[in-house]
Amino acid sequence: MGFRAIEWLDDSSILKLIDQKALPQQVHYLELTTPAEIAGAIHDMTVRGAPAIGVAAAFGILQAARGAAGAGEDLQARLSEADAVLRAARPTAVNLSWALNRMRAVWSGAGDSEALLAALDREARRIEAEDIAVNRAISEQALKILPRKVTFFHHCNTGSLATVDLGTALGIIRSAHEAGHEVFAYIDETRPRLQGAKLSSFELLQFGVPHAIVVDGASAHIMRTRDVDIAVVGCDRVAANGDVANKIGTYNLALAAADNGVPFYVAAPMSTIDFSTATGDDIEIEERDDSEILAINGQSIAPDGAPAFNPAFDVTPHRLIAGIITEHGIARPPFAESLLAMKRAQETF
Ligand code: MRU
Repeated sequence: MGFRAIEWLDDSSILKLIDQKALPQQVHYLELTTPAEIAGAIHDMTVRGAPAIGVAAAFGILQAARGAAGAGEDLQARLSEADAVLRAARPTAVNLSWALNRMRAVWSGAGDSEALLAALDREARRIEAEDIAVNRAISEQALKILPRKVTFFHHCNTGSLATVDLGTALGIIRSAHEAGHEVFAYIDETRPRLQGAKLSSFELLQFGVPHAIVVDGASAHIMRTRDVDIAVVGCDRVAANGDVANKIGTYNLALAAADNGVPFYVAAPMSTIDFSTATGDDIEIEERDDSEILAINGQSIAPDGAPAFNPAFDVTPHRLIAGIITEHGIARPPFAESLLAMKRAQETF
């Protein structure tokens, strides 16, 4: 991609974001200067995708720290306030609290303000750099199992816009294309926010990856009547037993895949695996405003006064998942064991 969805401008302590709400019609950037602005951008989905919101939040903490230092304010008080505002921005993606926990481990530790500021700077950049490396490693793991000619089914947007650089599931599709595989991807629209139609197609067009946008309801039909080799999605939180919370409609896609013998894979950085959450039932599912369903681009599509219900994520039971592709390898069922083994192996390095 010729641009980054998220970029830290160090000299000015500005977080520069592509306004994802305006894509694909307009590519314009916002320059955010406070944690409250960043929390607002996470909540209204100017920046979205689990890894991207974690990175944005980490830089929000760095902004707060620099602001407090500049104003001679109490660092801990300012950071604790920023932490609370950012943490509350969206509930489902664990990457948000994961990144904030990493930053908190730094700022709640010992050291004078100057040392803490330098350490927060390093940690935010480390979180950003790790995301780039982890995404590349996920693609490398996936390439090991893909046939030369491969047709994907993908949901939502999990590419460069949802991360710092390559992306997870969409990154796999792009990497397969760049590695010379004969790739085709069905990209579902992803109602109600249309991340597939608006964002994933925008990215794939840039990289020349052959694809077609399809409506969400077409997945079972396409899998029954066309050759689809693999469904691959991203995730917002993986429970310890392998249940996966991801964009609403992921569960439907997994059911369609199961009924048609299409292997269903989840691309997940280890940071998205939440070992403190036992099962998918324990994951908080964000409910968003009815207006996302009742109007498209501000144009009402339902009768005035029509009620709606808008859960933004769902939980796909682990029994429907063939593999969870992480930077350290592909976890296979039973996930309660394979994910834990992967975590332990990582800790011993
Ligand atoms: O509501 P969104 O657009 O933030 O939801 C995004 C998803 O569900 C993605 O699949 C997930 O965050 C993984 S992005 C690499």
